[in-house]
Amino acid sequence: MITQIDHLGIAVKNIETAVEYYEKGLGLECEHIEVVESQKVRTAFFKVGDVHLELLEPTSPESPIAKFLEKNGEGIHHVAFATDGIQKQLADASAAGIRLIHDKPFPGAGDKLVAFLHPKSTHGVLTEFCAPADSPAATVAED
Ligand code: CO
Repeated sequence: MITQIDHLGIAVKNIETAVEYYEKGLGLECEHIEVVESQKVRTAFFKVGDVHLELLEPTSPESPIAKFLEKNGEGIHHVAFATDGIQKQLADASAAGIRLIHDKPFPGAGDKLVAFLHPKSTHGVLTEFCAPADSPAATVAED
């Protein structure tokens, strides 16, 4: 079950100048900056109520974010939903005919397991499911 919007992923060309905008322009505070090797990105997190903003800067031309920036420029890249059972969430989506990018979760930013649905199946919104890596919600085993 989806429990809340966890974060919005925002593609940026340069994380330092983007962080400066969110800090000086909006008065938000950057929680931390982290490199996520699996996605070839550098991420910066801001907490806004219960929701986070996840700024994403590519660390390589092969990064999915580099390809996104080339095609679309900077902007909203994905919406991430927290779920109490990531594997079941994926199985249910797949059973409903939704195309998955990943059928198994993998380690993402913020010590979470993540998996994505294909935007062709989600009305144009790249959709992420996520769950804390150390929670029962993140269990990969299928029953
Ligand atoms: Co994300």
